[in-house]
Amino acid sequence: MSNRMWGGRFAEGPDAIMEEINASIDFDRKLYRQDIAGSKAHVSMLASQGIVSAEDAEKIAQGLDTILSEIEGGTFTFSRALEDIHMNIEARLAELIGPTAGRLHTGRSRNDQVATDFRLWVRDSLDDLEAQVTDLMQALSEKAEEHAAVVMPGFTHLQSAQPVTFGHHLMAYVEMFSRDRSRLQDARVRMNESPLGCAALAGTSFPIDREMTAAALGFDRPTANSLDGVSDRDFAIEALADASICAMHLSRLAEEIVIWCSAQFGFIKLSDKFSTGSSIMPQKKNPDAAELIRAKTGRIYGALNSLLVMMKGLPLTYSKDMQEDKEQAFDALPNLSLALAAMTGMMRDLEPNVKTLKKAAGSGYSTATDLADWCVRVVGMPFRDAHHVTGALVKIAVDKGVELHRLTLEEMQSVEPKITDDIYSVLSVDKSVRSRVSYGGTSPVNVRKQSRRWLKQLEREQKTEK
Ligand code: ARG
Repeated sequence: MSNRMWGGRFAEGPDAIMEEINASIDFDRKLYRQDIAGSKAHVSMLASQGIVSAEDAEKIAQGLDTILSEIEGGTFTFSRALEDIHMNIEARLAELIGPTAGRLHTGRSRNDQVATDFRLWVRDSLDDLEAQVTDLMQALSEKAEEHAAVVMPGFTHLQSAQPVTFGHHLMAYVEMFSRDRSRLQDARVRMNESPLGCAALAGTSFPIDREMTAAALGFDRPTANSLDGVSDRDFAIEALADASICAMHLSRLAEEIVIWCSAQFGFIKLSDKFSTGSSIMPQKKNPDAAELIRAKTGRIYGALNSLLVMMKGLPLTYSKDMQEDKEQAFDALPNLSLALAAMTGMMRDLEPNVKTLKKAAGSGYSTATDLADWCVRVVGMPFRDAHHVTGALVKIAVDKGVELHRLTLEEMQSVEPKITDDIYSVLSVDKSVRSRVSYGGTSPVNVRKQSRRWLKQLEREQKTEK
C-alpha cells in the first residue's frame, strides 16, 4: 500500500528495511503530549483566523482529546507504517472524525511540527532538571551547615595539602551546581521561541497568527526566520552541553564518594539505601549509586557529541538526519535526572566519620603552611624564608617519623631560634581551619555564612514560585 499522507505520487509502498530505517515511532511516541498540544494550538489559531470553520476546529480538538486519553489509557495502537508520532496521531484523527481531520495540517508541515514538539519536550526537561539541581543544592547546603566545623584533609594532586572543613568541601559543589542551574535557566530563555508556522521551510501563504500559537504553547515569541526555525537544533545541543557540564560535576562528587567510603579512607558512611552488597564477599558495601552516576556521564557526553556531529554537515533546511536527535536527548536528559535524584538521596543520607576525618586532616604535615605563616606573622620573616624553615622542620619530622606538633621546642629552635612555644597553637587542625577567615576560605564561620546564605536564597525562591 502506498502512503496515505503522500501516496499521490507513489505506486508502491516502502521496502521493509526502508520502513525500519525510516520510522521513528518507536521513540518519538514520547512526544505525544507535545504533539497534541501543538495541534490544538494550531487548530484553534486556524479557526480564529477564519482558515478553518469553528465547527471543524471543535471536531478536531475533540478528536485530539480522545486520542490523548487513548494513548494515556494504553489503548492506542501505534503503527510503524505510519512512521512517526505526527502521522500516527493524524491518521487516528481521520479514523475518528473523517476527512475533516485533513484540515489540521493546513499551513504547517511536519518540519515545524517536530521542531515545536521537540522544543516543548526539551523545555520541560530543562524545567525538571532545574528543580532537581535546586534540591541537590539544598541537600548539600543542609549537610554543610550541619558539618561546618568538621575538619578533613584538603587535597591537591590527591596529596594532603591543608586541613579544610567538610562543610566547605560540600559548599564547593553548591557553587558548581548553582552555575549548572543558571546555565539551564539561560538555555531555557534562549530556546523559548516557537517554530510552529514556519511550515515546511518557507512559511505559508495562509494568514496564520504565529504570535497566537506561540503564546498558547508558552513560548515568548515565534522564531523570526522560517528556515532557521525548522532546521536548527542548537536548543537541544545547548541543553545537552549544559547537561554534560552538570554530569561532569556530579561525576566528580561521585568519584569523591567512591574514594571516601573505601576502607582505606573511611571518610564517610553511606546509608544502606544507597549501597549494595557483594554476592561473594560478605564484608563489602559498595557505592554502586555513586559509580553509576559517574558512569552516566559517558552517555550524556555521547549524546552531545552525537548531535554536534549529526548537525555539522547539514545544509539548510530540514534533513532527515535530524530525526536522530531525539533518541540521544531522550536518553541523556532523563539519565541526568536519575543521577541527580540518586545524588540528592545519597547526600541526604551520608554521614562523615568525624574522628577519621580529623585524624587524616592532621597527617601528612598538613599544617606546615600554618607554621610558615606563623613565622611570617610573629617573627616577621619574608614568606620565602619561612617556607624554607618549615621545609627543614618537616624534614626533621619525616626523619623522626612524627607529626609536626610532636617536634620539641629545641628541635624547632635548632632550625629557627626565634620560634617560641606559641608555635604549637597553630599546629592543630582545628586552629588551622578556624584561622582561614579570608572571604571564601574554609573557616567554620565562613562555611556557616555561606550555607545559610544559600538556604535562605533557596527558601526565598520557593516562596516566590508559590
Ligand atoms: N519524524 C521526523 C523527525 O523526527 C519528523 C519530520 C519529518 N519531516 C519530513 N519532511 N520527513 O524529524
